[in-house]
Amino acid sequence: MSLRGRSFISLHEYDTEELHTILRLASRLKDDLRMGKREPLLNGRTLGMIFQKSSTRTRVSFEAGMTQLGGHALFLSSQDLQLNRGETVADTARVLGRYVDAIMARTYAHADVEQLAQHSGVPVINGLSDLLHPCQAMADLLTIQEKKGRLAGIQLAYVGDSNNVTHSLMQAGARMGMHVRVGSPAGFGPDAEVLSRARRMAARSGATIELDEDPVAAVRDADVVYADTWASMGQEAEREARIEALSPYQVNEALLRHASDDVIFMHCLPAHRGEEVTADVIDGPRSAVIDEAENRLHVQKAILALLLAA
Ligand code: CP
Ligand code: NVA
Repeated sequence: MSLRGRSFISLHEYDTEELHTILRLASRLKDDLRMGKREPLLNGRTLGMIFQKSSTRTRVSFEAGMTQLGGHALFLSSQDLQLNRGETVADTARVLGRYVDAIMARTYAHADVEQLAQHSGVPVINGLSDLLHPCQAMADLLTIQEKKGRLAGIQLAYVGDSNNVTHSLMQAGARMGMHVRVGSPAGFGPDAEVLSRARRMAARSGATIELDEDPVAAVRDADVVYADTWASMGQEAEREARIEALSPYQVNEALLRHASDDVIFMHCLPAHRGEEVTADVIDGPRSAVIDEAENRLHVQKAILALLLAA
């Protein structure tokens, strides 16, 4: 099976076996790195990284990953590109495609990532759009597999605001035969189209995707409880209203008592202690968040190596 030359924009576009291929290579690259072995799979290759939004993990893990694979990554803030002065996404894509071997983009509009893929002629990786965060979901799958020994049959409860991270987790769970429950209040549920497509995918893998407005019901017996910020990038003006609406969905010790005894807590980070999660949970023994952040590096190296395979 070859993933060569493809873009990585939505997990919908990848079948179960292809996602397992990425996870297997990620584990191998992780083991290799631990043993001090760096394979120059992308010698001489360049990744252009367009950022319309802030980033710590995505920026640094892609850049370090390219270096470890023998290639180079360019940080391109949209503020400094001619995009900021009105050059179109399509022209930017056409031009960058003549210089770099692949593009990673973090955007507001999901359509911007799609346009980059349509016009650049090189693989485009979605490093988070308002709709999806597929690299995060891949790191989450690797983390769950490492901590729980399997993916199929795992019960994952996502509580809080349904956002880009939730959408990609729903797609990932649907592909991998997981049981995903989203606990969000009315008005903060997932995108209807993402939900119905994820449910169609789930029907084929034995997965289930359920919604529950009651946070206690959502986390009941869960193997994994997942939280993310209540105000994503671009929603800063709604922050106070969101905190008020989402407070009952905070992941704290009391909520976690309804989950499985060996539940792990996950969060894509950055976190807001005292809002979507309490400090004792995120800094406690069940938290997997730093391993999860580390796994961004390994899965993204696998994605890069497969899309850019010689
Ligand atoms: N989780 C994540 O994507 O983090 P950054 O915003 O720091 O890249
Ligand atoms: N949902 C968050 C994720 C940040 C990594 C956001 O879009 O801001």
